[in-house]
Amino acid sequence: MPFPEMRLRRLRRTESLRALVRETALNPGDLIYPLFIRPGEGVRSPVSSMPGVFNLSVDQAVREAEEAAVLGIGGLLLFGLPDSKDEKASGAWDDNGIVQQGLRAIKKSSAAKKLVLIADVCLCEYTSHGHCGVVIQTKDGGYDVDNDPSLELLARTGASLARAGADIVAPSDMMDGRVASIRAALDADGNANTPILSYASKFASAFYGPFREAADSAPQFGDRRSYQMDGANLREAMREIDLDLEEGADMILMKPAMPYLDVVHAARENFDVPIGAYQVSGEYSMLHAAFEKGWLERDRTMLESLIGIRRAGADFIVTYFAKDAAKLL
Ligand code: PBG
Repeated sequence: MPFPEMRLRRLRRTESLRALVRETALNPGDLIYPLFIRPGEGVRSPVSSMPGVFNLSVDQAVREAEEAAVLGIGGLLLFGLPDSKDEKASGAWDDNGIVQQGLRAIKKSSAAKKLVLIADVCLCEYTSHGHCGVVIQTKDGGYDVDNDPSLELLARTGASLARAGADIVAPSDMMDGRVASIRAALDADGNANTPILSYASKFASAFYGPFREAADSAPQFGDRRSYQMDGANLREAMREIDLDLEEGADMILMKPAMPYLDVVHAARENFDVPIGAYQVSGEYSMLHAAFEKGWLERDRTMLESLIGIRRAGADFIVTYFAKDAAKLL
């Protein structure tokens, strides 16, 4: 029955009608809030390229966690800025590393029961060269990020973070075989019940720019294109997911989100596991730049960006907007 008998505008007339027929929901519990933990006490240093984002000392991270819990946010994703860096990323797998300290402190706070604590597993914040694995010299005078020796360090890191209290560990390094290595290390350590959220589909993206300031993790030479995926490839993303699930990943994370919504959707169609999407630093910063100029309306644009990611098929979203969005919802 076409127009004029059928009129789709009938169901858009009032907010209550629109709410009744709304297909996609966004709840604070769907949102994961990233925190950057640094040494010190009472420190909140602003990240200049990410308005509203700070590097926090452990005591301040606990305050943020308690605030996030009151807002009903689903969980936190923790990154660390260590005191010192070296070739072996010692700060990543040190049981007294900065994220390990943060995990223990948040676990003791009132936030612990309400929030899922996710620890990012990567080496780039902890290596002197800023790459996500072990770097070796090649015969032709170049360099390579050596896959297999990196696995041992990643596995140690995952195990240490779980011992410190991480509810979930989330490898973001993109080395081949890391999920199986981390799974084996967790199991051997008595943490067979700790889930792995694998950044299965992580593209080499210019949208990570502001994060590298926030986490002080820019590579000192070269780039990440030999381990992160080429942005043009959707079929390869499905293979990455397939392999990570075979290695034992419990959930997958897609990243970035907005420029890759088709990949999120394809993952949703092809895999029956929980799927998260990461609205990364550059997505946040570019929207903020437009808010500051008055070119985009903050609240509506923020929520529309998040609903779009949910509609594409993400069950949960890692976003620097988590607190601001939760306040509106
Ligand atoms: C670590 C890591 C990065 C991000 C999350 N984990 C940076 C990178 O791969 O260079 C980016 C997150 C963001 O941009 O918000 N490997």
